[in-house]
Amino acid sequence: MYRVSVIGTGFVGLCTAVCFADRGYKVLASTKYKEKASLVNQGIIPFHEPNLSKVLKKAVRSGHLRAVLGREEAISHSDISFITVGTPANPDGSIDLRLIRQTAEEMGKALKEKEGKHLVVLKSTVVPGTTEKVVKPILERNSGKKCVEDFLLCSNPEFLREGNAIQDTLHPDFIVIGEHDKKSGDLLEELYRDFHEGGVPPIIRTNPPTAELIKYVNNSFLGTKISFINTMANICEKIAGVDVRNVAEAIGKDHRISPYFLRAGLGWGGSCFPKDIKALVAFSKSLGYEPNMLETAWKVNEAQVEHTVEIVKNKLGVLKEKKIAILGLSFKPDTDDIREARSIKIIKKLLKEGVTVTAYDPQAIPNVRQILGEKIEYATSAVKCLRNTDCCILVTEWDEFKRLKPKHFTENMRHPILIDGRRIYNPKSFSEKLDYVGIGLG
Ligand code: UDX
Repeated sequence: MYRVSVIGTGFVGLCTAVCFADRGYKVLASTKYKEKASLVNQGIIPFHEPNLSKVLKKAVRSGHLRAVLGREEAISHSDISFITVGTPANPDGSIDLRLIRQTAEEMGKALKEKEGKHLVVLKSTVVPGTTEKVVKPILERNSGKKCVEDFLLCSNPEFLREGNAIQDTLHPDFIVIGEHDKKSGDLLEELYRDFHEGGVPPIIRTNPPTAELIKYVNNSFLGTKISFINTMANICEKIAGVDVRNVAEAIGKDHRISPYFLRAGLGWGGSCFPKDIKALVAFSKSLGYEPNMLETAWKVNEAQVEHTVEIVKNKLGVLKEKKIAILGLSFKPDTDDIREARSIKIIKKLLKEGVTVTAYDPQAIPNVRQILGEKIEYATSAVKCLRNTDCCILVTEWDEFKRLKPKHFTENMRHPILIDGRRIYNPKSFSEKLDYVGIGLG
């Protein structure tokens, strides 16, 4: 069995590491942060992700996973390394490859001392060309070795979703291998065939720039699909008796469209769609092509925030001194991640209008507090959040919010106006009891 190391212990790195360990591989997770290494080695996860804690504890207890400081030990005691460090955005939206460059340099130095052929796999999301034009020369320069002859190289983007990361890693829809050369691809395919023994997903083998682009295209397509249905939702809202949910359900039956990612609402956030779509726009422009469709998908997404605030204004008139409840702060349920969350954008707009905001989220309050501090009030439950408010905006569809009944709103709010930003409530029964507005409901 190959020994695996994972460079970077962020979301993708940690999930990759624990899943390989869970399948019986010896895994070293390399981090530069002492506290992080210590947390991982105690089986403590640094962020909220369903099932991750259980799998991590098991992996650490069984001795299959260990976090180590720096890159050297990880490289020298493994055969295959996955690079999973972050690729944030520059202020202009283009990708910031500083961490990738730094990691390749450190890995190159570690490879210098290493005997045997190591396979380096770039999992971080990067623009086409990065594996071959950035990572490869840095590895070669710092190791004094040659790719193919002395070490192997692949690009291998990941498609896991937050909130579902373990399941997605263990059972992906497909695997993309962008091989620098056939030997590199063969070895990575062998690893994955062994990992998924009994249920190997389709494996697509291609060259590195194609693999790198596939990741962006995947996310851009999904983001565009959501912006498309949100555009339809806004049309539906203008036609009495039409509900975008019915429209989406119908077109979703057409197998060419599929029912997924057709949930209209407040739009997309998170650590991937916004960053990746922006990066692809910037990359495309750098090549001299204006990707109008992607820019429109982005604009539509941003406009959903404005649209929501407009709905509130239509309902309440002047917003100054009104009190508004926000249910849900994370960018989607089952995570405490608030990167590009619609909640923060909506709250900031409401605060500008002089609104008093009270918010509740089962997991994300500590993260929001770091950004908004005491500019808003934080409730300790959904029902408490509703108390004495003039309007409620449901921003994230956590399961516990789905259990709220009309009486929870009517009995607690000063004015029971509910804007269902994720369409989780029954429009008929809620409209009978309170002033209910659903995104995409005419
Ligand atoms: C996404 C991709 O799905 C994943 O393949 C990639 O690796 C990382 O980016 P993630 O950001 O974790 O995963 O969440 P996802 O479930 O895709 O949702 C992204 C955003 O789209 C969320 O804000 C969600 O609320 C929104 N969304 C999703 C909709 O508004 N409507 C939908 O129908 C689906």
